[in-house]
Amino acid sequence: MTQAQKRSTWASRWTFILATAGSAIGLGNIWKFPYMTGVNGGSAFVLVFLGCILLIGIPLMMCEIMLGRRAQKNPADGMRWLADKAGASPHWKWVGLTGVIAGVLILAFYSVIGGWVIRYILHALNNSFTGADAGLVGQLFNDMLASAPSLLLWHTVFTVMTVWVVARGVNHGLERASQILMPSLFGILLFILAYSVLEGNFGQAMQFMFTPDFSRITPGAALAAMGHAFFSLSLGMGVVMVYGSYLQRHVSIARTSLYIAIADTAVGLLAGLTIFSLVFANQLEPTAGPGLIFQTLPIAFGQMWGGQVVGSLFFLLVAFAAWTSSISLIEPAVAWLTERKYCSRRTGAWLTGFSAWLLGICVVLSFNHWSDVRLLFDLGIFDTLDKLTTNILLPLGGLMMAIFAGWVMRPDHVQDELGLKTVAFRAWRFIIRYVSPIAIVMIFLSLLGLIRV
Ligand code: TRP
Repeated sequence: MTQAQKRSTWASRWTFILATAGSAIGLGNIWKFPYMTGVNGGSAFVLVFLGCILLIGIPLMMCEIMLGRRAQKNPADGMRWLADKAGASPHWKWVGLTGVIAGVLILAFYSVIGGWVIRYILHALNNSFTGADAGLVGQLFNDMLASAPSLLLWHTVFTVMTVWVVARGVNHGLERASQILMPSLFGILLFILAYSVLEGNFGQAMQFMFTPDFSRITPGAALAAMGHAFFSLSLGMGVVMVYGSYLQRHVSIARTSLYIAIADTAVGLLAGLTIFSLVFANQLEPTAGPGLIFQTLPIAFGQMWGGQVVGSLFFLLVAFAAWTSSISLIEPAVAWLTERKYCSRRTGAWLTGFSAWLLGICVVLSFNHWSDVRLLFDLGIFDTLDKLTTNILLPLGGLMMAIFAGWVMRPDHVQDELGLKTVAFRAWRFIIRYVSPIAIVMIFLSLLGLIRV
């Protein structure tokens, strides 16, 4: 059976959950969430983030799955088709097309960081952390950043791994591996957390992450937290829509979204607690930025019994989690190229991957030779790509999808696809019509200084 005859579907509900959770759980949880929390003042960021997961993330995840399964198409053509059915403008396709582009922009930096993780598997295997203190671990990290050829090599390896899977079709191969490796990642995180409860400063980490202090919520932190809720759940650019388009009709969208959001948030919080326990125990700065996990966890691996094995396994599992996320980033683009018959799946995957790889070279250089280059808002290349996608494109994409599902589509179609009973549907629809869009717009406006939150 070829793709042209029949759209492929997931083997079961669990494969969909695994694949979508695989997309959601990645570097965003383990690398990005801790350092963003550190940079944005701890608990203020965490609280807004959790609020956004509840009020925007879960309802929007349901919305994206619903749109994808209803349309049975890639995001761009899907939005256009749904708009057509609802008698709305064909320009809605731009929501899908922007997502296609956002995916390539995100992969450009995602694969560079994925490359760092692969480099660290080797460091751990080579016992480079044994007996290391903060100074040595910091040195190791800075040496890695300074070497453009080495960063380029690992960036290339990670990109090729990603493209290779997508070229074969996402619902092949990785499923079985995910079933074992994702739970193992969770297990090893718990193990390292136990270590940092015993040896680190867990109390201060709890306090830093959870003591409510609303006075510290700045507009900048609120936007970062909302953007990260989108990033972490892979929302706003059509990934969940594409995955949803391969989902069988009888599966409950609400329950599935809830499971995925809980698993995703749990992994981020676990990683955060572990890392801040180590940060405070070793008198490090929570505001270290993107290098945070690479400058803290190795200290623990260097000191704990069996640290060589635990460290290697940890970075291996993180690399795997990053891999199952990165393949989702180019899937919307590839689905679009192939369903439009512009090219074969294999060519589409290599073309998309190559574009991201080229842009990724600029990201590699932004950590060394081009570290002085400033783009949007005086940010460097890496920060520009990250902020442009995470804080602007994803929330904007999500906003448009919420408006589309809440105001443009016929409610009976939406309810039918979601399979919700009346009361639950009304509650969801209220959130998607009012609460999520207003929250997103308010955060944008507060950033522009137009309102105060
Ligand atoms: N959610 C992934 C992570 O946390 C990254 C990711 C994969 C993503 N696909 C996405 C982010 C789509 C935004 C949109 O690591």
